[in-house]
Amino acid sequence: MFPVIDNVIVWPMPENLSALESLRWQLDAGIDETIGNEPHNRFAEVADAPVTLTEAPPPTPAPNVAPKPAVPAKPDPTKAAVKAAAVAEDQLHDACQLAGEAKNLDELKQALEKFDGCPLKKTATNLVFGDGAEDAKVVFIGEGPGAEEDRQGLPFVGPAGQLLDRMMASIGLSREQAFISNTVFWRPPGNRTPTTAEAAVCLPFVERMIELIDPQMLVVLGGPAAKSLLAETAGIGRLRGRWFEYATPRLSRPVPTMALYHPAYLLRSPSHKRETWADLLAIQEKLAE
Ligand code: URA
Repeated sequence: MFPVIDNVIVWPMPENLSALESLRWQLDAGIDETIGNEPHNRFAEVADAPVTLTEAPPPTPAPNVAPKPAVPAKPDPTKAAVKAAAVAEDQLHDACQLAGEAKNLDELKQALEKFDGCPLKKTATNLVFGDGAEDAKVVFIGEGPGAEEDRQGLPFVGPAGQLLDRMMASIGLSREQAFISNTVFWRPPGNRTPTTAEAAVCLPFVERMIELIDPQMLVVLGGPAAKSLLAETAGIGRLRGRWFEYATPRLSRPVPTMALYHPAYLLRSPSHKRETWADLLAIQEKLAE
């Protein structure tokens, strides 16, 4: 039985492993990059961290609403959440401002290079902005860069990308006719799913990207991308194959949008390729209208 700390099952590394076995064990556990010279116990950090009250700004009272009584000065874990929310609000504000000012994709990329509001930037090697034509007729949005994408600074260049290329080619679309990007622009460590906060702070840049390209169609790949862009809570199994309309105030018209199973999922579960083939044919038909 493995120990459980803070509701997380801790999977201890077996003792007496050779260097090679230990490396293999770490890779299997998702530890595939070095970000410090010393091991750091994050569980102890969470348990020991003092919750400071002074740094959290008091929430601004809404107009015509009596100010709330002062919060008693005793450690209160919700204060940390208020602080985190306030920080996230600042970052979101910066993201909206920087993204909104971009007048073309080059400026949008420069804005992202300046933007420090997404914590994924700290652990990633490269910004993975996107790839394709500024006048692409279809924009594909995936979940987040993986290891190969992080190395090359380009989206969908690993095995999932090769399948995506074949999926596009099957309906007569080349990479040059499309623009490919992700819900987050930096690789989540260990290829985990981006958190809601990470996706939210990158969303203004994704939105601006779609506005600047103004495509004929948008395709979201996998559940996390569908959740982030379509604001839908249903799983990808229910969302795929349906048409949605993606709209922002700066788009001239709503963009027809389809959700597909993510190519990485199709590599693991090839039985779903059949439904995806039907979805690709629906995309092809719509593009021909
Ligand atoms: N998976 C994604 O969602 N995006 C990539 O860029 C690569 C793999």
